[in-house]
Amino acid sequence: MGFLFKNFCSLAYAILFQFLFLHKSYACDFFSGTWVSDDTYPLYNTSNCPFISEEFDCQKNGRPDNLYLKYRWKPNDCTFPRFDGQDFLRRYKGKKILFVGDSLSFNQWQSLICMLHKIKKYLMSLIPLQDYGISVTLIRKQYFVDLVKENVGMVLKLDSIENGKEWIGYDLLIFNSWHWWTHKGKIQKWDYIQEGDKLVKDMDRLVAYKKGLTTWSKWVDSNVNPTITKVFFQGISPTHFNGEDWNEKSATCEGQTQPLNGSTYPAGLPPAVAVVKEVLANMTTHVPLLDITTLSQLRKDGHPTSYGSDGKEGNDCSHWCLAGVPDTWNELLYALLVTGQNITSI
Ligand SMILES: *[C@@H]1O[C@H](CO)[C@@H](O)[C@H](O)[C@H]1NC(C)=O
Ligand SMILES: *[C@@H]1O[C@H](CO)[C@@H](O)[C@H](O)[C@H]1NC(C)=O
Ligand SMILES: *[C@@H]1O[C@H](CO)[C@@H](O)[C@H](O)[C@H]1NC(C)=O
Ligand SMILES: *[C@@H]1O[C@H](CO)[C@@H](O)[C@H](O)[C@H]1NC(C)=O
Repeated sequence: MGFLFKNFCSLAYAILFQFLFLHKSYACDFFSGTWVSDDTYPLYNTSNCPFISEEFDCQKNGRPDNLYLKYRWKPNDCTFPRFDGQDFLRRYKGKKILFVGDSLSFNQWQSLICMLHKIKKYLMSLIPLQDYGISVTLIRKQYFVDLVKENVGMVLKLDSIENGKEWIGYDLLIFNSWHWWTHKGKIQKWDYIQEGDKLVKDMDRLVAYKKGLTTWSKWVDSNVNPTITKVFFQGISPTHFNGEDWNEKSATCEGQTQPLNGSTYPAGLPPAVAVVKEVLANMTTHVPLLDITTLSQLRKDGHPTSYGSDGKEGNDCSHWCLAGVPDTWNELLYALLVTGQNITSI
């Protein structure tokens, strides 16, 4: 009797665990986890990827360490499907993918091109992967909203998004914007910011960002048919210029060879993340956030430092070496697409 009761209990526990496990695997957050070393990485060797831009090719530019190539992102409570390039090509055969944004979009786009190129080798062509009928393109637009040359100089128009005309007719859109909203001095692109009829020299950058992003969100809500086009927002990519952010006084990303352990970042999230989340939450179109900020914050070792653009760029703690962190962004993009977490499957 006691024996049967015990068996009954273990069965009940088994069912309970299974329920908890299954439940968890559906509600899983792919974006909280840790980096673990994994010798099966990197996913590709840039010397076999003809599309790689010099500025991301850290090994070619002489970066002496290579530990940073061998990390895999491991969510805390579940696993995500491994990137299957064949499957990706099959799903997107005949379809058009577009990245829109700044040089971080360029970084992620190059990563995806190399990940796919490894699966199917093509003759180098101006339109990569054209032969398979899949097109993966990039439009560089730092702000989404319009930046226009007028008599007074360059005007950043927070309410105007004529740029959107170029984003029509795609099956998958991945947007990213933030870094250029912060730039000041010589690299600032505008002379004036326009809102309504009003021109101002400057304003709080987070406020400007929120207004510009809201204009973008309205464009998506009125121009994208979600049954045809899937839209993602590529989350804010962090920089590592200030070691105090991870409790390492007077350090930068230079000379870093290992990620941070654990799942949290001492400095917390940059404030722009809250703006993105608020704007996305207000949209009628469901635009999933590729929430890569924290996982990338843990990768102080992932930047080109002086091994981008042959060292011509100084200490780059903003972009990412390839192979490297943006490969994980694309692995997670793929995982969201195939698990259909909140998006209709393709
Ligand atoms: C990439 O390939 C090149 C040429 O075959 C080789 O020298 C290099 O070690 C490889 N890099 C990695 C990280 O495997
Ligand atoms: C992180 O963990 C690795 C492996 O467990 C260890 O070798 C390394 O020293 C740790 N780093 C820090 C900063 O604690
Ligand atoms: C989101 O909607 C709320 C409620 O309508 C509004 O108060 C808030 O300002 C909106 N935020 C943005 C970023 O549009
Ligand atoms: C799933 O989509 C709904 C709206 O369609 C949204 O409220 C919810 O936050 C989304 N969940 C995740 C995990 O993105």
